[in-house]
Amino acid sequence: MQPLPGFRDFLPADCAARNYIFECWRQVARRYGFVEWDGPILEPTELYKKKSGQEIVGQLFNFIDKGEREVAMRPELTPTLARVIAAHEREFKKPLKWFSIGQFFRYEKQQRGRLREHFQLNCDIVGETNLAADVELVALSIDVLRAFGFSEKDFVVRISDREFWTDFLREKNVPTDRWEEMLQAIDKSEREPRDKIAEKLGRLADPVLAILSEGGKSEKLEQLVDSLRARGLAGFVDIDVRIVRGLAYYTGIVFEVFHRSGKLRAIAGGGRYDSLIGQLSDKAVSMPALGFAMGDVVLGELIREVPAAREKMEQSTHTRGNIDIYVVIAKEERRGDALGQIQALREQNYKVDYPFSPAKVPKQFQAAEQLGARVAILFGDEWPQVAVKNLTSGRQELVPKEDLLSRIESVLK
Ligand code: HAM
Repeated sequence: MQPLPGFRDFLPADCAARNYIFECWRQVARRYGFVEWDGPILEPTELYKKKSGQEIVGQLFNFIDKGEREVAMRPELTPTLARVIAAHEREFKKPLKWFSIGQFFRYEKQQRGRLREHFQLNCDIVGETNLAADVELVALSIDVLRAFGFSEKDFVVRISDREFWTDFLREKNVPTDRWEEMLQAIDKSEREPRDKIAEKLGRLADPVLAILSEGGKSEKLEQLVDSLRARGLAGFVDIDVRIVRGLAYYTGIVFEVFHRSGKLRAIAGGGRYDSLIGQLSDKAVSMPALGFAMGDVVLGELIREVPAAREKMEQSTHTRGNIDIYVVIAKEERRGDALGQIQALREQNYKVDYPFSPAKVPKQFQAAEQLGARVAILFGDEWPQVAVKNLTSGRQELVPKEDLLSRIESVLK
């Protein structure tokens, strides 16, 4: 039996790497004053049909549940956030800064950097129209990646503004019901052949392609980069109007983060979605909002590829050995006494292991080493004394059982 295509097994080393990523995400989001929240993994399919856009609806893992409801595994968090905000907004002071770490599901064609499940860090700010919030969010995405050991040589945040394009479409008298289609064509412009894009854009092909090759000008974007410069972060960003984003609900600044090589899929993406909450609540609550999500798949590949990031992860996962103490039961008569001490040590929060069945002493020491224990405690003929062996220095001493806890505390300090 194999896992389903695009789904991963997380063996212990993979889980250690995943936890490392989550801890880094959590730490930096909190540094920026974001608080953690989460929503359900299953939502009414309708929630995504309403506003996420065609592409993601085509990728839904959806089914009819036993109560005849049309449901979908969440492909992203933003519609859930909009639903939750519309229901609970009065309970919180604005602007609200929320982050979440969770798993998402999209029925995508499996390829490098894209699976059918992945984890995301989502960071969103709700109730703020000021450009300062957009700057804060971009800065946060940069600092999250810096915390993993990446520098401006490794990644770039490509920032754009959907308003730049919607202004252009308005100027060209394109009816609003065709905007989404045009924006999607521009979004795909980097990945598709030129004649295919030209065909999709029709009479707009020439002016759009000219802007795409020359780059567009936007005062708002320049202001944003200036604010990042004040934080010393301008080297991490590029203004790039080729970024439009595939999701339908964005209304303003949008951005995507890429490896500098440009070979890998996006590490993160987000932007402003000032109308989504209003649209999902049928105008009951209108609230500006913006956010981004960073996935664990491309990020994980990048951590393994960039030496500084890889070393940082290895150091962090390595220092957290599996266990602190291995209890060697040299005489089976002492097993009961040993279990009593093991219980006491675990209550003090030490990570303790021991053999389930009788084994030769050298074999037990071997197990201690393999598990990365720093101390072995030997229960044998010396009882009511025990031998405490520091496995790093090799030093061993006899300790009366009453003094064991305090002795261990000083050895493991
Ligand atoms: P998104 O660009 O669809 O945005 O996804 C964000 C990130 O999730 C991507 O840059 C990528 O790292 C990761 N990702 C997406 N799909 C997959 C996949 N199939 N396999 C592996 N990784 C994947 C959103 O989801 C928006 N809701 C972000 C947002 C939050 N906008 C505002 N707030």
